[in-house]
Amino acid sequence: MSLPLEGKVALVTGASRGLGRTDALTLAEAGADVVVTDILIEEDENLEQTTEKLGPMAQVMAQTQTVYTRSTAERIRALGRRSTAFRMDVTDRKEVQSVMEQVKEQFGRIDILVNNAATLDHTARLEHQNDDFWERDLRVNLTGSYNCSKAIWPYMKEQEWGRIINMASVAGTLGGYGQASYSATKAGVLGLTRSLALEGAKYNITVNAIVPGIIDTEAFQMSNPGMRERMINRTAFKRPGKPEDIAHAIAFLASEKAGYITGVGLPVTGGIDLFTF
Ligand SMILES: NC(=O)c1ccc[n+]([C@@H]2O[C@H](COP(=O)([O-])OP(=O)(O)OC[C@H]3O[C@@H](n4cnc5c(N)ncnc54)[C@H](O)[C@@H]3O)[C@@H](O)[C@H]2O)c1
Repeated sequence: MSLPLEGKVALVTGASRGLGRTDALTLAEAGADVVVTDILIEEDENLEQTTEKLGPMAQVMAQTQTVYTRSTAERIRALGRRSTAFRMDVTDRKEVQSVMEQVKEQFGRIDILVNNAATLDHTARLEHQNDDFWERDLRVNLTGSYNCSKAIWPYMKEQEWGRIINMASVAGTLGGYGQASYSATKAGVLGLTRSLALEGAKYNITVNAIVPGIIDTEAFQMSNPGMRERMINRTAFKRPGKPEDIAHAIAFLASEKAGYITGVGLPVTGGIDLFTF
């Protein structure tokens, strides 16, 4: 029996850990060849510079060697799929362009893009917002998704087949206390999703977003314990989601069966966005 994504080539951004890594593995299990990309990569001689630029969470991840970009590609190859790892900073248009060209050359096509890379490492009320983090969040979370979509678009257009899946957040639909920059970027991602969905339809490119609630990743574990508890209590299930909950929704949206779904923001929230009293 053939797998739903057999013959397709997927590229996931920010796939070194957390949701991106699980997305990459799940797409491979569904039959796709997967390109694993992240700004953090094992044995990067510029790691110190990169993490300094990126912020506190990246520094912790590098120091604790929680960087699994190449090793994820290896795991995918062990599943019998083709896979390569690339260092790719989504804010660097030249690097993004060059990676897309190399993927096309090596794999022959690019069918699925998961715009997952983001920064989610700080909360502060407006008067304490760090202006550099505001700029960085816009650059990574919003402009990064634009950069990757723009670079992949000609290949999808030429093939007359494409799937772009963006990562939004309930912070973008509901707002988030102390999350001005993060919320603004995730609301922006939903606008980008709808506009590209309209433009992509005539080329058979669908563009959708996932709107996660709270999902148990390394980033979630690093948040303030009191805040974590309050967020968990707001879900209908009284527990955070698993990375696989997101990855399975992505694998569905990437499949042939989701061909008439475009421009949606699919909530995978465990009911955190429901009215409770
Ligand atoms: N975990 C949650 O509860 C949750 C909730 C809502 C939305 N999301 C969204 O899901 C996605 C993944 O979240 P996560 O919890 O796995 O976060 P995470 O911080 O663990 O993973 C983000 C990844 O992006 C990479 N990255 C950061 N800047 C980059 C850049 N400039 N170029 C390339 N890669 C870069 C990081 O190195 C990291 O591997 C994000 O878009 C996030 O906003 C997560």
